[in-house]
Amino acid sequence: MYYIGVDLGTSAVKLLLMDSEGKICRIVSREYPIFFPHPGWSEQRPQDWWEQTVEGIKELVADVDKSQVAGISFGGQMHGLVILDSEDRVIRPALLWNDGRTYEECDYLNHVIGKEKLSEYTANISFTGFTAPKILWVRNKEPENFARIAKIMLPKDYIAYRLTGVNCTDVSDASGTLLFDVKNRRWSSEMCDICGITEQMLPRCYESYECVGTLLPETAALLGLPEGVKVAAGAGDNAAAAVGTGTVGDNMCNISLGTSGTIFISSRHFGVDKNNALHSFAHADGSYHLMGCMLSAASCNKWWMDDILGTGDYAGEQAAIERLGENHVFFLPYLMGERSPHNNPNARATFIGMTMDTTRADMTQAVLEGVAFALRDSLEVAKSLGIHLTRTKICGGGAKSPLWRRIIANVLNLKVDVIESEEGPAMGGAMLAAVACGEYNSVEEIAAKVVKVVDTIEPEAGLVAKYEARYAQFKEIYPACKSIFEIIN
Ligand code: XUL
Repeated sequence: MYYIGVDLGTSAVKLLLMDSEGKICRIVSREYPIFFPHPGWSEQRPQDWWEQTVEGIKELVADVDKSQVAGISFGGQMHGLVILDSEDRVIRPALLWNDGRTYEECDYLNHVIGKEKLSEYTANISFTGFTAPKILWVRNKEPENFARIAKIMLPKDYIAYRLTGVNCTDVSDASGTLLFDVKNRRWSSEMCDICGITEQMLPRCYESYECVGTLLPETAALLGLPEGVKVAAGAGDNAAAAVGTGTVGDNMCNISLGTSGTIFISSRHFGVDKNNALHSFAHADGSYHLMGCMLSAASCNKWWMDDILGTGDYAGEQAAIERLGENHVFFLPYLMGERSPHNNPNARATFIGMTMDTTRADMTQAVLEGVAFALRDSLEVAKSLGIHLTRTKICGGGAKSPLWRRIIANVLNLKVDVIESEEGPAMGGAMLAAVACGEYNSVEEIAAKVVKVVDTIEPEAGLVAKYEARYAQFKEIYPACKSIFEIIN
């Protein structure tokens, strides 16, 4: 049988076709626009997601026996607010996970409602990207839109809704709404009251590997697929990526270098970082995880290459980098503000340390290193909670670069296991579909069976020591710039 994984990302939807043995048969990618209507705001049109997903699925299965397609599931960009009216019309473009407009609403949640209460109700505090402050923003700034809300959903759930007619979500994605009681895996009535919504507006919540329904007859016809194709709830892209890289069970780690950068630590037990710098979310394997999320990771390199240097030759630019651990240029990667651990939508990206002999390669190197140092910031929080890691998996577009992987292994002093394919969320989505269809008994079983580590990058003692010293310097830059960021915004 075949299983389709849909990774509804920020720059594109990636679709992956997997067979029963976990072999990747085909990958298709289709882009859609992202809109930045004001500095720090980011939006997309759910209709664009839907159209490109439909076209992508058609392309993905064009050459296979469609009667063999058994299931579809998702990894989706998290936190985005999709609101529908009573006629199922999308009320306004979706506010995305990296949108920083809700700082007043976050302030209200964190300081008037209070972090302690939020943490008690949801295991988390408010970050501008989370869904609850977005709902409050619509209530405060667009009351006419707020009054029309009949359904609230997350990005991938909009696709599931159009495929099946079932308003559903999963525990991992629900965790990022700040409306979800993560420990008990159910919506929080307290948070619904605080946001002025009813639980009926929210999707029904499933475990990620549960089947929510089958294709609607008209969607089956549109896609050319059998009506019996099952749709599984799926997961937020980071939990799906963790499944796709075999980061399941206890104390496993995955780093995702996508538009965002995340460090994801799986755990069989529910736990909260007492400072809430790391998110405490439900995992797609039925358990929990802690996660640090930086808002711009591979997107920093893309911005530097495409928009500033004006080149598509990423490997060529990186080939000129020679002296790892000896760069005097530093880059703060806060192009969209920053979430973990600074929680500051006003933070901005910065190069610092250039001299007349600084080269283009030094600047490129600083971008790659700046992302690695920022991931290390979240790893340090995990260490302070007593979490001890020796290795990590890696996925996402940035993971294609051998140089970047080496920098990460040495800055974080972790062994980096490279998986056969870096398509974490799409692979995880397909794997969740296979579990929902009964092909495997559990997420852990399929992960053990199909995820293959093809290479391991070992940290090099000399380089780890050099980066230790550089990281100590990097850590000083953000606190020194913080007050400037307030002034220049
Ligand atoms: C996680 C987060 C991002 C998005 C990116 O909390 O905001 O990783 O899910 O798609």
